[in-house]
Amino acid sequence: MGRLHVLVLGSAAGGGYPQWNCRGPISSLFWDGDPRVEERTQSSIAVSHDGETWALLNCSPDIRQQILRTPRLQPRRAPRHSPIASILLTNGDIDHVAGLLSLRERQAFRLLATPAVLEVLQANRIFEALAPDLVARCPVALNESIPLVGDLVAEIFPVPGKVPLYMEEGEPEIGAESESTVGVRIAAPDGPQLFYIPGCAHVPEALKQRVGGADLLLFDGTLWQDDEMIQAGVGQKTGHRMGHISMSGQDGSIAAFRDVPLGRRVFIHINNTNPVLVQGSPERRAAEEAGWEIAYDGLEIAL
Ligand code: MLT
Ligand code: MN
Repeated sequence: MGRLHVLVLGSAAGGGYPQWNCRGPISSLFWDGDPRVEERTQSSIAVSHDGETWALLNCSPDIRQQILRTPRLQPRRAPRHSPIASILLTNGDIDHVAGLLSLRERQAFRLLATPAVLEVLQANRIFEALAPDLVARCPVALNESIPLVGDLVAEIFPVPGKVPLYMEEGEPEIGAESESTVGVRIAAPDGPQLFYIPGCAHVPEALKQRVGGADLLLFDGTLWQDDEMIQAGVGQKTGHRMGHISMSGQDGSIAAFRDVPLGRRVFIHINNTNPVLVQGSPERRAAEEAGWEIAYDGLEIAL
C-alpha cells in the first residue's frame, strides 16, 4: 500500500448534482431519469499513503453519505474510531466546511487551514461543537511543507480566489491571491505528487510552473462557460464573479494548462449547470479530447 491513494468523495460543486431545488436543463436530466448522468455529492477528496489512515481535503455537507459508501473511512475499533486523522480546508466555503458539523461526536482529528480560514470558523460559535480538547485547529503557513497524514506531506499556496460568499461585504475583490483560497500540493516520500485546486479564478503563469510535472492535477471544473448559470436561467452570477475560471474558451482552464506536462488532469468541483456532467455531450467530448477526465464520486486514483 505504499502509494499515494486518492478517493474522490464528492465531485460536485456547492449544491451537488442534481441540486435539490434545480430544474435547470442539466439537473432536469437527472430528475427525468436520463441514463447519461449520475448523482454527485459536494466537493471533497480523501488521501492516504498506507490506505489505513486518511486525510480529508475539505469536508462537505455530504460527508455522512460519503463515509457510508466508503468502507475505508468507516470505524474499525470499538468503542469509537475513525480512519480520518486530519482535515485540510482550501477555503471557508459552505460546501467545504459545513460537513465539520457532522463530525462533532467527540472524535479526535487535526483541522488544518490558513489562519484566515480558521478565523472564519472561530468567528462562528456553531463550530465550537467540535470539542477543542479533541479537534486541534492547526494554522498552516503558505508555501511550507507540513505533515498531513502518515508520511504524506502537504504544502498550501494561494490561488486567485475570493472570500466565502457568506463573508462578502459589498463588491468583493475577485482573483486576489491570499489566505482565503489555497491550492494544495501533496507528496509521498517515494516521489508521487498531486495538486488539488477546487477553486481558482484564473491561471497565472506561476501556477502553471508550480504544477508542471505533477502526476495528477485535480482542478476547478465548476463551469463550462462563464455565463452558463445566467443562460440556464438559474442565477445572475458569472463564474468569474464566483471566483471560478471556466473550462472552455481562450481564457479557460483547458487552454491554460494545454502545454503544462501532467500525468493526469481531472476536473473536480463541477457545478450542476455544467454540460460536461452529461456523458457523450459535445462539451464532455471536447474536454476529454483535450486530455481531461471528469471526476465522479467513487473515483479512485493510486499514484
Ligand atoms: C463556490 O465554490 O463558489 C461556493 O462553494 C459557492 C457556495 O457557497 O455555494
Ligand atoms: Mn464551492
